[in-house]
Amino acid sequence: MIRQQEPELMEDPEQVLAYAEADFEIPHNHFIQHLKAFVGNDFKGIALDLGCGNGDISWRFASAYPASRLDAVDGSAVMLDYAKSVAPIHKAAPVNFIHGRLPVVILPQPHYDIIFSNSLLHHLPDPQTLWQTLKRYSKKGTQCVIMDLLRPISIATAQDMVTAYASNEPDILQHDFYHSLLAAFRIEEITEQLADAELPFNVVQISDRHVLITGTMP
Ligand SMILES: C[S@@+](CC[C@H](N)C(=O)[O-])C[C@H]1O[C@@H](n2cnc3c(N)ncnc32)[C@H](O)[C@@H]1O
Repeated sequence: MIRQQEPELMEDPEQVLAYAEADFEIPHNHFIQHLKAFVGNDFKGIALDLGCGNGDISWRFASAYPASRLDAVDGSAVMLDYAKSVAPIHKAAPVNFIHGRLPVVILPQPHYDIIFSNSLLHHLPDPQTLWQTLKRYSKKGTQCVIMDLLRPISIATAQDMVTAYASNEPDILQHDFYHSLLAAFRIEEITEQLADAELPFNVVQISDRHVLITGTMP
């Protein structure tokens, strides 16, 4: 099945609300567990979340690493408005939310100690936007953790995944999940993107629909 791109930014208020109120407890918790397994438990540096959306993973990171600082960037003002609206609930774990679109956004730090991203890659028309942003804002030793969806082998498999994982969610979320699956990359495509970017990262399939990419900047 060939890739079918979906809209890059998530800017429709109804779409954002459905996404922000969906139950991502299991995959987002898994993301933090994988990140901890890679970077350890006592990180105290400056981190960057690319395509942070409504900030759910940003806060999970900030809570897990209370001595760290976190910049979190997204191109959708609607997503960031939602993130900021619930910020008081998470005041023990502050996050610096930045409105900006990759690759043109100028971030406050010249480089970061950890850069992570969940579910951004499949939104990008050009996947090198992510890999080049990682290179631009990293230094030797920066630890990178990226998770994303994988494109299933067929339309039928994508439809089965929507039924299996999102049948209790609103129609708009089911629609977005289906189109995200169709827009996602295959493992071999990601491996090729990383080779083109000269990034010696590990690419591992961690569920029927998720890939984890980890690596330390050489
Ligand atoms: C599926 S959401 C993931 C949000 C969050 N990382 C999470 O895991 O819940 C993808 C986000 O990437 C943002 N995005 C897409 N392309 C972008 C770009 N070029 N620059 C910045 N943000 C982008 C979208 O606006 C959206 O909020």
